Amino acid sequence: MAALPRLLIRGGRVVNEDRSQLADVLVEDGVVRALGPDLLASGTSTEGLRILDATGKLVLPGGIDTHTHLQFPFMGTQSIDDFYLGTKVKEEMKILTQNKGINSFKMFMAYKDLYMVRDEELYAAFSQCKEIGAIAQVHAENGDLIAEGAKKMLALGITGPEGHELCRPEAVEAEATLRAITIANAVNCPLYVVHVMSKSSAKIIADARREGKVVFGEPIAAGLGTDGTHYWNKEWHHAAHHVMGPPLRPDPSTPDFLMNLLANDDLTTTGTDHCTFNTCQKALGKDDFTKIPNGVNGVEDRMSIIWEKGVHSGKMDENRFVAVTSSNAAKIFNLYPRKGIIAIGSDADIVIWDPKATRTISAKTHHQAVNFNIFEGMVCHGVPLVTISRGKVVYEAGNFNVSAGDGKYIHRKPFAEYVYKRIKQRDQTCIPVPVERLPYKEEVILLKASG
Ligand code: URP
Ligand code: ZN
Ligand code: ZN
Ligand code: ZN
Repeated sequence: MAALPRLLIRGGRVVNEDRSQLADVLVEDGVVRALGPDLLASGTSTEGLRILDATGKLVLPGGIDTHTHLQFPFMGTQSIDDFYLGTKVKEEMKILTQNKGINSFKMFMAYKDLYMVRDEELYAAFSQCKEIGAIAQVHAENGDLIAEGAKKMLALGITGPEGHELCRPEAVEAEATLRAITIANAVNCPLYVVHVMSKSSAKIIADARREGKVVFGEPIAAGLGTDGTHYWNKEWHHAAHHVMGPPLRPDPSTPDFLMNLLANDDLTTTGTDHCTFNTCQKALGKDDFTKIPNGVNGVEDRMSIIWEKGVHSGKMDENRFVAVTSSNAAKIFNLYPRKGIIAIGSDADIVIWDPKATRTISAKTHHQAVNFNIFEGMVCHGVPLVTISRGKVVYEAGNFNVSAGDGKYIHRKPFAEYVYKRIKQRDQTCIPVPVERLPYKEEVILLKASG
């Protein structure tokens, strides 16, 4: 492979989760080699050096999307956006963790008769995660209640996408969230709740964190950027485009609420759950909402949505933005400080970000295979100008420079400190002990033999 050119990102404001500084960034062999003011003046060689001007711009650690489904076979079809390079592994959790570098497992409490696991299976899976140092993830919705609710809606003649939300209201998500937290806490296993979509579920996570439980909540771009009023849209296709589980919520104050909790560390990371289906795939459920493939887009727009609704709105600063789009994910999934920070020795995954520029999101201009965009028409401040992946400029001035197989799978070690330090501490110090007593010596009744 041809050597990558050396890069000097010059004159920008380097933003990490803990501070921002005016500094140049020197990238060699895919990693950050130097960081500091005016690196050229302090003797950096110009040989084979490409200079990227970042004056007046922000230099951010590359975003980490915690949750996507690419080429995902689901509900009779397959999600339309694909991996350039897919990975398939299907063995025991322990082998996956020890030999394959997988340190998180997602359990579904929804999708009855497909993926749904019950409490005792959750208990067993959480216990195993704890044993091998993985983080347990849950899709928290009560699958039994959804199945009953769906029957009820169909019996009422509600066959359109609004039925999708009506059969799985907030309480269905909140109940499962609390149950998962309770079970995880019973085995002292760290828990990560994927796609937190409702106020009630987010509140349960916030309360649990205040009680000291090791739980993390992941809102997604869809839930932060739009709401469930779309399910009542008169156009069937428009409503169906928004179908995902847990659903977007019809309460229009939900996105703001979730963003406030994200800003205040009640919620921790952001994903997208990117899982896209074209209109003709969604149309599998044209007469029955339970057959509409679940999933929406997000991968391309996550950073802009969070900048617009989080930073531009004044809810969070640029450092918190980096924490929730990159650093926290890197810490939880044990990639930090290789990922999630711009520091000497870190992988050069870097975005040059223009916080003042705006762009309008549209399916007409997006770079995804899917034929619609749930954020259609939204004007966002915060535009990526240049994206660098492991030292290679992969996006610049509207053009991509990527090819199939460019992505790199990274083995993740178990027992991430950020997640497991408190867990281990508790295992050592919070061991229940029996009360010492003198033996009971008085009368004991006799039970009659049964049968
Ligand atoms: O509707 C959704 N969320 N589709 C993707 C699968 C999942 O549950 O994460
Ligand atoms: Zn899910
Ligand atoms: Zn539409
Ligand atoms: Zn998902």
